[in-house]
Amino acid sequence: MAAHLLLFVLFFDFSHSHTFLNPNRTPHWKNDDPNQGPFFGQPEQVHLSYGGSPNKIIVTWLTFDDTLDSIVEYGETEQLLSNVKGNCSLFIDGGELKTRRYIHRAVIEDIKPGTKYYYHVGSECGWSSVFTFKGLEPRPDGGYRFAVYGDMGNINARSLGKLQRLAQKRDFDMVLHVGDFAYDMDTKNGKFGDEFMRQIEPIAAYVPYMTVVGNHEEAYNFSHYANRFSMPDSEHSFFYSFDIGPAHIVGFSSEFYFYTKYGWEQIANQWNWLLKDLKKAEKNRKNVPWIITMAHKPMYCSDFYGDDCKLYESVMRRGLPLTHAYGLENLFFKYGVDLEIWAHEHSYERMFPLFNRTVYNGTDSPYVNPPAPVHVVTGSAGCQEEVVPFEKHPPPWSAFRSSLYGFSRMQVFNATHLYFEQVAAAGDDVIDSFWVVKNRHGRPTQNDKKKLETFGSRIPFNYCHHESHNCHPNGL
Ligand SMILES: *[C@@H]1O[C@H](CO)[C@@H](O)[C@H](O)[C@H]1NC(C)=O
Ligand SMILES: *[C@@H]1O[C@H](CO)[C@@H](O)[C@H](O)[C@H]1NC(C)=O
Ligand SMILES: *[C@@H]1O[C@H](CO)[C@@H](O)[C@H](O)[C@H]1NC(C)=O
Ligand SMILES: *[C@@H]1O[C@H](CO)[C@@H](O)[C@H](O)[C@H]1NC(C)=O
Ligand SMILES: *[C@@H]1O[C@H](CO)[C@@H](O)[C@H](O)[C@H]1NC(C)=O
Ligand SMILES: [Fe+2]
Repeated sequence: MAAHLLLFVLFFDFSHSHTFLNPNRTPHWKNDDPNQGPFFGQPEQVHLSYGGSPNKIIVTWLTFDDTLDSIVEYGETEQLLSNVKGNCSLFIDGGELKTRRYIHRAVIEDIKPGTKYYYHVGSECGWSSVFTFKGLEPRPDGGYRFAVYGDMGNINARSLGKLQRLAQKRDFDMVLHVGDFAYDMDTKNGKFGDEFMRQIEPIAAYVPYMTVVGNHEEAYNFSHYANRFSMPDSEHSFFYSFDIGPAHIVGFSSEFYFYTKYGWEQIANQWNWLLKDLKKAEKNRKNVPWIITMAHKPMYCSDFYGDDCKLYESVMRRGLPLTHAYGLENLFFKYGVDLEIWAHEHSYERMFPLFNRTVYNGTDSPYVNPPAPVHVVTGSAGCQEEVVPFEKHPPPWSAFRSSLYGFSRMQVFNATHLYFEQVAAAGDDVIDSFWVVKNRHGRPTQNDKKKLETFGSRIPFNYCHHESHNCHPNGL
C-alpha cells in the first residue's frame, strides 16, 4: 500500500530530488527461489563526472530493473582489485508508459593523478564492458584541456565520431556540454534519452562529462536531466561549481528564467547560490584565478531568430522583465568573471569583451587584459534542427562567427593564459582560435572601467546596425 502511495506521489511531483531506494530493500524478483533474477539487469549508459577534486570521480549508469547492488570494480590492472558500492535511485519517466529506470551512482575517491584505471560497473545481475580513465593531472604543456559544445542530438550528431575518437585518445581531459541533449531525452517515453546516453558512452566512460541543462530538457520539470547526470556537490546537477587547475568552473541553469511554470523560487535559489559561490571563489582567486561560467542561453548573439539574446532587455543579461531582478550581467561583471560560455544558438560566435552593451573593440589586442568578460556561444555540435543562419551584418559585439557544425576546445594553461578554438566536425580545420591573456584576475578596477570607456563603443538602445534589418524601435 505504501509503495502505491509513493508511486502516486511520484507521478505528479517532478521535483528534482532523487528517489533513493533503501539499500535494505527487497526487489520484486527476490524471494527464496535462487533461480529468480531481474528482468533487465544489464548496466548501460556508463558515464563519468568529475567529483570536484582530482582524486574523486563519480560513475553513473542505468539498468531497467532493480539489481539491488550498484558496484564499481576498478584498479590499475585488469584484475580490478578495488571496489566501491554506490546507491540507486528510481526514475519514473513522465511519458505514457511511465518507464522505470534505475540510476546507479558511485564515487571513487582514491584516484592518483596520472594513473590509468580500468573499471566496470554493475552487479552479479550484469556487468558492463571494461573501460579506462586516467586520474586528472596537468598536461605537460600546462593545465587542462576541455571539449566544449552544446546542442548535440541523436539525429545528425555531426561532431560525435570525432569527439569519441579524441576522448579515447585523451586529446582532452574533460567535456563541457552546455545544454540541449538528444532532441529530446523524453521523446518516445525516454528512449531518445537512452539512445543519447548510449551514444556518448564512448566519450563519457573515458573522460568526465560535465553538463548544464538546456531548453530541450524542459519536459517533466527537467527530470531527465536531473536523473541522468551527476554533477559534484549538487543533488540536482542544475547549479554547481568545481575547481580544476587554475579554473573555477560554474555551471547553472538559464532555463529557470524561462520555464517559470515549474516555480519562480528556483531562480532565487540559484541566484543565492551563485552569489555565495562567487564570493567563495573570489577569496580563493590567488590559487584559482580564472572564473568561467557556463549556461545554455546566451546574453548576446547575432543569429537570425528572435531569441532572448536578440533583445535589448535580454532576460539572461538584465533579469526578469521590468524589475531586472536576478540579472546576471552585472553580477558576473562585478565578480570579474573571465569567460562566459553559452550555446543554444546552433552556431559558433566569439564576442569582443563587453559589458552593458559597451563593446571593447577599439584596440589591436582585445583579449589581452580585457576590462570586461569574454562571451562565446558554442552550440553547433550537431542536431536535426540545422544550423541557425546569422544576420547578414553582424552587430558590433560579434568578433567572429561560423555556421559550420563543430565543437570548441579550450585549454586553461596557467594563471595568465587561456586558449580557445573552434574545430570543424568535418575535416580537421580549426575555424577560429584566440588567447585570453590576463595578468590580473578579480573585480574590475577603476582603470578597467576607464579602459572600457576609452576603447569601447557604447551600443545605444536605439542602435540599428544595418538598415537591412528593418530596424525596430528598440534597436534590433
Ligand atoms: C520542480 O522542481 C523544483 C526543484 O526540485 C521544485 O522546487 C518545484 O516545485 C518543481 N516544480 C513542479 C511544478 O513540480
Ligand atoms: C548516493 O550517491 C551519491 C553519489 O555517491 C551521493 O552524492 C548521495 O549522497 C548518495 N545518496 C544517498 C541517499 O545515499
Ligand atoms: C548600463 O547602461 C544603461 C544604459 O546606458 C545605464 O542606464 C546603466 O546605468 C548602465 N549600468 C551599469 C551598471 O553601468
Ligand atoms: C567598434 O564598434 C563600433 C560600433 O559598431 C564601430 O563604430 C567602430 O568602428 C568599431 N571599432 C573598431 C576599431 O573596429
Ligand atoms: C603560461 O602559458 C603560456 C602558454 O603556454 C606560456 O607562454 C607562459 O610562459 C606560461 N606562463 C607561466 C608563468 O608558466
Ligand atoms: Fe537550446
